[in-house]
Amino acid sequence: MGKGFLDPSSKTAWLYAEASKYIPGGTSRIHYYFRPYPIYAQSGEGCYLTDVEGTKRLDFLNNMTALIHGHGNPAIKKALFEQIERGTAFSEPSEPEVRLARLMIKRVNSLQKIRFSNSGTEAVMMAIKLARAYTGRSRIAKFEGFYHGYYDYVQVSFSSTPANWGPSEAPVSTPSSGGLADTVLGDVLVMPFNDQKAVEILLERHGRSIAALILDPLSNKGGFPLPAEGFFKFLREITRSYGILTIYDEVISFRVDSGGAQGKYGGDPDLTTFGKIMGGGLPVGAVGGKAEVMDLLDPSQGSPRVISGGTASANPLTMAAGLAAMEQMTPPVYARINRLGDMLRKKSNEVFAAAGEPAQLTGEGSLFRLLMTDEPITDYRTSIRKAAPQERFNRLHQNLLDEGIIISKEGLGCLSTPMSEAEVDQFVKALERAVAKLRKE
Ligand SMILES: Cc1ncc(COP(=O)(O)O)c(C=O)c1O
Repeated sequence: MGKGFLDPSSKTAWLYAEASKYIPGGTSRIHYYFRPYPIYAQSGEGCYLTDVEGTKRLDFLNNMTALIHGHGNPAIKKALFEQIERGTAFSEPSEPEVRLARLMIKRVNSLQKIRFSNSGTEAVMMAIKLARAYTGRSRIAKFEGFYHGYYDYVQVSFSSTPANWGPSEAPVSTPSSGGLADTVLGDVLVMPFNDQKAVEILLERHGRSIAALILDPLSNKGGFPLPAEGFFKFLREITRSYGILTIYDEVISFRVDSGGAQGKYGGDPDLTTFGKIMGGGLPVGAVGGKAEVMDLLDPSQGSPRVISGGTASANPLTMAAGLAAMEQMTPPVYARINRLGDMLRKKSNEVFAAAGEPAQLTGEGSLFRLLMTDEPITDYRTSIRKAAPQERFNRLHQNLLDEGIIISKEGLGCLSTPMSEAEVDQFVKALERAVAKLRKE
């Protein structure tokens, strides 16, 4: 065992100092960066990750929820090694692409066709372009606080604050990144999740200029609010009445059921975006949906209306790993990790209640989010309005790392198939100690 990663003479400190010379802030991924610097991964095995200091922790983050089978899954490794022997990349299509496409369409009811990309961000970008080309409109609608990757038109209002978010029934479009074109904010209508009346009024005013409503049925960034009874059905009906396409962004939520969150909560989106677990741990994205929309990508009858390419799209390694990952995700496997997720949330919430700490674990199935508020979560605003300052969460995050538990710096976590009740108990005991320490500090 080496030094603790925070020790100034640790390998981590050295790696981060080196990284900072060459990479802005020393990181290529904002979502894992935290102060003073993140841990550096050395290797992973099953549900454990070992950092460069030799410290082994339970990995409840799994590359931001992508590794549903944890690290080093034997079937995924075998599929990858076999594909490496056949070839790592071709200009030509290959069989694993066809097999993964068929599997996805069999599992997700609303899909008739699917097209692969390299990331969830690219999938969202492709879906928005498809919706624009199909409807002949350019504006899009999204829900406040929901994250959909880093394409310009969705980098809006996913990090609004009370200082700039405006009235709850008509949230202000705020930039969540610098560098957006001037027209973007005006082209994005931001709506409050779970507020039927507000959506009705906003769409009455803007609906006829909107190409698509993009919606994450289980939004991590929104705090994992569950849809109010009938809300998705209402959205489906109202968007149809204005000729707006609905895009379900299932980049994360596809984890909760073999048919995705739309399989669990219902919904019949025109388009759905995927990523994360579908690639078996390799970079991936996809858009699927109704044939009449997806066929705008079809080059077989001349130049397609929507052009999408990508040197690495449908890369055979990704397709082979994705297929091996998804084939193992049978309904009983989903049921088992979802049940572990229910157990983890229940026991963790008992820990917070017993300690008197106003915090909670939200989420569904194998996904969870640690929020520093006990307010019931119905939308983005309820997830942060009464939340303790970020600094308190940062200390809890650090305490959890010290206790051998990895979750994201925003509280996102998930289970993986190698986990069992024993790992759930380990999490709960570690949380108990981490919270007790927090309350003493
Ligand atoms: C709901 C959702 N959509 C889109 C994305 C973007 O996916 P990627 O990071 O693969 O570009 C993410 C990433 O976390 C996401 O959570």
